[in-house]
Amino acid sequence: MRILVLGKNGQLGQSFQHLVQNGQIGQWTFTDKNTIDLSDANVKDQLLAHDFDILINCAAYTAVDKAETDIDLAYQINSLAVGKLAEVCLEKNALFVHFSTDYVYHNSNRTPLKEESLTLPQGIYAKSKLEGENNIIASGCKYLIFRTSWVISPYGNNFVKTMLRLAETNHSLKIVSDQKGAPTFAEDLASAILHIIKIYYKNPQVFDKYGIYNFSNTGEVTWDDLAREIFNIRKLDVEVHPISTAEYNAPSSRPLYSVLDTEKIRSTFGIEIPHWKEALQRCLRQLSSN
Ligand SMILES: NC(=O)c1ccc[n+]([C@@H]2O[C@H](COP(=O)([O-])OP(=O)(O)OC[C@H]3O[C@@H](n4cnc5c(N)ncnc54)[C@H](OP(=O)(O)O)[C@@H]3O)[C@@H](O)[C@H]2O)c1
Repeated sequence: MRILVLGKNGQLGQSFQHLVQNGQIGQWTFTDKNTIDLSDANVKDQLLAHDFDILINCAAYTAVDKAETDIDLAYQINSLAVGKLAEVCLEKNALFVHFSTDYVYHNSNRTPLKEESLTLPQGIYAKSKLEGENNIIASGCKYLIFRTSWVISPYGNNFVKTMLRLAETNHSLKIVSDQKGAPTFAEDLASAILHIIKIYYKNPQVFDKYGIYNFSNTGEVTWDDLAREIFNIRKLDVEVHPISTAEYNAPSSRPLYSVLDTEKIRSTFGIEIPHWKEALQRCLRQLSSN
């Protein structure tokens, strides 16, 4: 099984590298944008030069607020290039594993979002990610798309690392309290993907579980309570003051409720997903040991 991973330096890309080092199966190749650049018009040729049975695309334009003014690049990377990657997967009869976001839903539901729930993306990032999903589906390739939320890890940029950094110089912080979701420990997502591709590879001819799946850790939380839990675990004396999304006034709109219903992935592939509090503890332990 030859597996090609794009975006090796991101949170998810590094989580795959960490797991693979720990003895997972397959021949893995990890690339960054110097080898395969999703902003390059020739991305298709760059990908065609590689042989693989499974493509895992961890690369994306993920700067949600910056995307509001960097519109062309966000669409190029998250939508147009993704469509071209899917065309190559079709040509090579390879499985395309791709990641999308809870922000594609952004509807007024206040109950956990199912894969078939209404999608109503509001910002450029979310719109470009949904368009990327649609380009994959339209290509006719074999695909698994995982919609995930609030990704955390010991790598790259994320909320946990930002809170720890801010705690070094602040005794009180204002944190948004009216958005509810669930963190996703990137390593738990990568582990789930490994489990699924093992099932796929046992018999690719009979595998029929293609489609869109939600994945996050279980439970739900607001950003301010997540911050409190981080400071509590680390025994940091930081007061958290709740503020509203409107007061925070970020350039891009975020959904107030984006808890993902993960029943489909759990029942289809027999995956047990840890609660976010337990995942957060592992994330913080890994950060301490780095
Ligand atoms: N982070 C979240 O909270 C979150 C939430 C929901 C969904 N997701 C989705 O989950 C997936 C993984 O996210 P993540 O948090 O691991 O992202 P990340 O840490 O921001 O990593 C993104 C990766 O994409 C690479 N990249 C950017 N532009 C590229 C280009 N033109 N060509 C090739 N590679 C390029 C980056 O390379 P450099 O490091 O060299 O720039 C980086 O390695 C993405 O699809 C994202 O949309 C993330």
